Amino acid sequence: MLEKLKDIEHAGLEALQAVQDEAALEAWRVTHLGRSSDLMVVFSGLGGLSKEERPVVGQRANEVKNALEAAFADKAGGLRQAALKKSLEVEQLDVTLPGRKIPAGRLHPETQTMRELYHVFGEMGFQVYRSREVENDEFNFQLLNFPVGHPARDMQDTYFIEGGGSSDNPIILRTHTSPGQIRAMRWLSAMAPDNPPPVRIILPGMCYRFEQVTNRHETQFDQLEGLAIGPGITFSDLKGTLADFARRMFGQNTRTRFRASYFPFTEPSAEFDVECFICGGKGCAVCKGTGWLEIGGCGMVHPVVLKNGGYDPERYTGFAFGLGPQRMAMLRHHIDDIRYFWQNDLRFLEQF
Ligand code: FA5
Repeated sequence: MLEKLKDIEHAGLEALQAVQDEAALEAWRVTHLGRSSDLMVVFSGLGGLSKEERPVVGQRANEVKNALEAAFADKAGGLRQAALKKSLEVEQLDVTLPGRKIPAGRLHPETQTMRELYHVFGEMGFQVYRSREVENDEFNFQLLNFPVGHPARDMQDTYFIEGGGSSDNPIILRTHTSPGQIRAMRWLSAMAPDNPPPVRIILPGMCYRFEQVTNRHETQFDQLEGLAIGPGITFSDLKGTLADFARRMFGQNTRTRFRASYFPFTEPSAEFDVECFICGGKGCAVCKGTGWLEIGGCGMVHPVVLKNGGYDPERYTGFAFGLGPQRMAMLRHHIDDIRYFWQNDLRFLEQF
């Protein structure tokens, strides 16, 4: 019997050496340690042995069982390690692979320009006043000295809101930011009607005109209005303010010029040009060879407008200006068509 146990042990250990995977290992366990294995048969036959043989064979059978179980555990551990090593080789996790980039958002070029303008005028002491985009004829035109039928209305073809307002005061989309002048002045003068406070504000925002769309004209565009009112404000304050603005915005050596013009709500009125910052005044395609770029309109606030805003024109004077931020952005970035601004084409927007 002891001889047999030696064979069982030997056969088991030898067979184990040939085991290469988990399935074969399980089959080995059933054959060599399972209930019907030769070893278990020895255990179940112990009862039929003589008193002397039984402990000797029993002890030896236990030793063989322990040896086989230890070899089995060893093999199982080895196979697990090998499987892990293989999977690490095959399913390599490359932690150096860059992650997927989340595209970063950015500000629209128009928003960037507007914020720069707020910053520049903010440093010069101007506060932002936001006025409504849906206006009425009275504020957009009449109170700004464009009476009904005034020919200057033809410069600002208007969108009307169907069924809105009355026949002599229809609801419209504002054609310029200037009606905000009246709203701001009335708001401020209402605080102290006998002694209204001085005004120094900018009024940014969208305007709408029923325009023939071209590379320089859109039906929807931003303006940035400026308004300063106080006792003793003169045209030289207007010139100084806009010249200083141009230097802060376009560079310290920027030259400016004013050309006589006409707006019903300012008197005198002017167009405001800056020296072409592309060619430095020599003349190029952007400034059409003139050396100058038109930035907007300006003038001294008309006495009628001051009065309509609640400011006594005998005591107060003021200046106003209206700039075209998109035209400024176009000049600066050499954008040759204003239509790019609202088309939402990422190829355009991603350049800023
Ligand atoms: C006005 O709208 C006056 N309210 C400006 C003003 C304010 C003058 C205060 C005096 C005192 P104008 O129509 O020129 O003026 O427009 C001013 C600027 O708005 C233009 O120089 C231009 O830059 C911009 N603008 C006007 N129409 C369009 C348009 N269709 N598309 C894009 N920009 C435009």
